[in-house]
Amino acid sequence: MAKAQKSFVCQNCGNTTTRWAGKCDACGEWNTIIEEAPRENLPKGVSGGKGGRKIEFVDLKGASAPPPRRSTTIAELDRVCGGGLVAGSVILVGGDPGIGKSTLLLQATGLLAANSVCVYVTGEEAVDQVRLRAQRLGLGDAKVALASATNVRDIVASLEAGAAPDVVVIDSIQTMFSDSTDSAPGTVTQVRTCAHELVRVAKKRGFTLFLVGHVTKEGTLAGPRVLEHMVDTVLYFEGERGHQFRILRAVKNRFGATDEIGVFEMTDAGLKEVLNPSALFLAERRGNVSGSCVFAGLEGSRPVLVEIQALVAPTSPGQARRAVVGWDSARLGMIVAVLEARCGLAFGSTDIYLNVAGGLRIQEPAADLAVAAALVSALTGNPVPAGAVVFGEIGLSGEVRAVSQRDLRLKEAAKLGFQQAWIPRPPRTDKAPRASETKSGFAIKDIGHVQDVVSQFTAAKEKRS
Ligand code: TYD
Ligand code: MG
Repeated sequence: MAKAQKSFVCQNCGNTTTRWAGKCDACGEWNTIIEEAPRENLPKGVSGGKGGRKIEFVDLKGASAPPPRRSTTIAELDRVCGGGLVAGSVILVGGDPGIGKSTLLLQATGLLAANSVCVYVTGEEAVDQVRLRAQRLGLGDAKVALASATNVRDIVASLEAGAAPDVVVIDSIQTMFSDSTDSAPGTVTQVRTCAHELVRVAKKRGFTLFLVGHVTKEGTLAGPRVLEHMVDTVLYFEGERGHQFRILRAVKNRFGATDEIGVFEMTDAGLKEVLNPSALFLAERRGNVSGSCVFAGLEGSRPVLVEIQALVAPTSPGQARRAVVGWDSARLGMIVAVLEARCGLAFGSTDIYLNVAGGLRIQEPAADLAVAAALVSALTGNPVPAGAVVFGEIGLSGEVRAVSQRDLRLKEAAKLGFQQAWIPRPPRTDKAPRASETKSGFAIKDIGHVQDVVSQFTAAKEKRS
């Protein structure tokens, strides 16, 4: 029989070639081509022929109880995971190097070890290093089974032998290697193969598996998001290295809501939970400064108040800079364009800097109105009234649109001592309180058009002069 032809398949676009290449001719991606097994080499049990077995179909209705959860005792971590860890599930924890992934998972396993069997496999550090860190975190006596290993075959064999553990941490997936493929450790193929083998044993033995993954400089986990579809939950650990705040964000969760966040503070004794993030994000705010506006945002199910800061500085025409930290720069461009086209403001020969204080990254369009208020305040030099929170989405014609969870946002603002809110005018059918109505000293200002915000500042200026 003729030798089966090898085939090489691009993992990005699916193009098949007969020779390996570093770059795919079809889509232009690098390092995405891998060899795929010819037909004859298909593993046993995978049929290449006709005549499959009939599968059983069932009704959607059925008695399936929600999965039991194991609490890590770190409430912020539990919430992001959807209320605790699910047995047999796989959680990928991604983030920049040095952000605190190992610290978080060492703390979690250290605490879980009180009544669960925990395994921590590190491929990055020596056993002594991890021990020292555990001591520093006050977890020196925790009963965590620790190993420094990188060979997935050994790790899988150890996890399959004896009693099944409850929680296993692999730190990190990029350092692991499997001898069932020839590629070098850290390559897409290796990462995928190792993860696949580890996920299989987690499902088989029913333990919760944490995989740590470093984010590549393009911002994706180990190449073209190879792991995200393989796991049940994807958590990103974010934050500015210079700030002590760290945010754990769920971007995918088969067992809970996404966009939940957990807020932590990096201290000398490891990560500490932050139970009231709004108070923390507003702690260093100074009142009565132009260009600063408090946004009542929502992260998952939780309201979070943050300060948005804008700075508008003159520049020579044609050289205007727009720099944004913590928000979408395209969205800033849109808000500036709306303010110019619909309200007649001129930002043309100015540099604009926008910053979300505290290192939080906002993704909601609800921040539009707060950004507009900060910009107009910076441009006119009039501060947003202290004690005011702002939220609302801005459309291209300058109209301000309602956003979700209005009451939850207002409640959080009232709890933190704010006395007024500039928010979208509720739809006519809504029975929510109107501008004239005030509830327990809280004044609500209806904003129908972004011009209403601009006139708050220009009116203040006229009154002053
Ligand atoms: P680490 O968990 O090693 O990051 P990652 O695994 O994501 O690469 O965190 C390392 C950083 O955290 C390091 O810069 C020091 C800091 N750190 C503290 O500030 N306090 C602590 O108690 C610990 C353990 C680490
Ligand atoms: Mg680490």
